[in-house]
Amino acid sequence: MKERVEKVIEIAEKAGQFVLSRRRSVGKIETKSSAIDVVTEVDKETQKLVTQELKRHFPTDIVWGEESGYPLDDFSSTWVIDPIDGTSNYVHDLPFYSVSIAYFQDGKPSLGVIYAPVLREMFWAVRGVGAFLDGQPITVSPIRSLHQAILGTGFPHEARRWALVEPMYARLLSRCQALRAMGSAALGVAYVACGRLEGYLQLGISFYDVAAGICMVQEAGGRVYDLWGREWTVKSRSLWVSNGVLEIDFGPTQLVEER
Ligand code: IPD
Ligand code: CA
Repeated sequence: MKERVEKVIEIAEKAGQFVLSRRRSVGKIETKSSAIDVVTEVDKETQKLVTQELKRHFPTDIVWGEESGYPLDDFSSTWVIDPIDGTSNYVHDLPFYSVSIAYFQDGKPSLGVIYAPVLREMFWAVRGVGAFLDGQPITVSPIRSLHQAILGTGFPHEARRWALVEPMYARLLSRCQALRAMGSAALGVAYVACGRLEGYLQLGISFYDVAAGICMVQEAGGRVYDLWGREWTVKSRSLWVSNGVLEIDFGPTQLVEER
């Protein structure tokens, strides 16, 4: 795994440089699941670049990305790429976006690399080895009290999901120190791993947005669930990651089931 992660860090850096080089020429902007779910030519070209590199170095592995256009069902020895997580930020030249690469072994996220090219921050983790930011070990925050906590979130793209999250946000806004939506779920989860945020929650998320952060948070001492307190899986459409000690109650929203 050590050699794998070293190679993937190089690939993420190369992809990040490419993304940065195109920040003023993103090409055609298209929409996907809804009018507010965007993809640029740079997303597609970056995915191609990362795919080629991963296939070259790990020829027997499966390589899949957010822009592949077909579903993924085999997580046995599989790379999952989110070429730009935070595409709408990228289009607006807001600095919070990242290249995210995860590796699943026997169905479990076992390695994750998240690189924020503008901020020049490289997060990585390997199951059983630890989680790191720019080569230094990271751990989650020790804060227990919600009043002292900053939570990250991201908003669902689908209008029907808003009714579910509105009461939860209303409840949290008066109880936590701050609620931030920075626009890259991958970075939000990485920020929990390094203790900048005490938690990250989102309804309407997909596994490729956060796969690289899952083992990062676990290796940094945190916990990963869906918003209903169930174990997170690649099929989960919601996410709640925390430092594991934060005292939080989502209120009645937690009882609303969405499948
Ligand atoms: C999006 C970002 C955003 C989150 C959305 C994701 P994309 O990913 O992570 O923060 O709120 O749910 O879809 O589309 O920029 O790769
Ligand atoms: Ca994404």
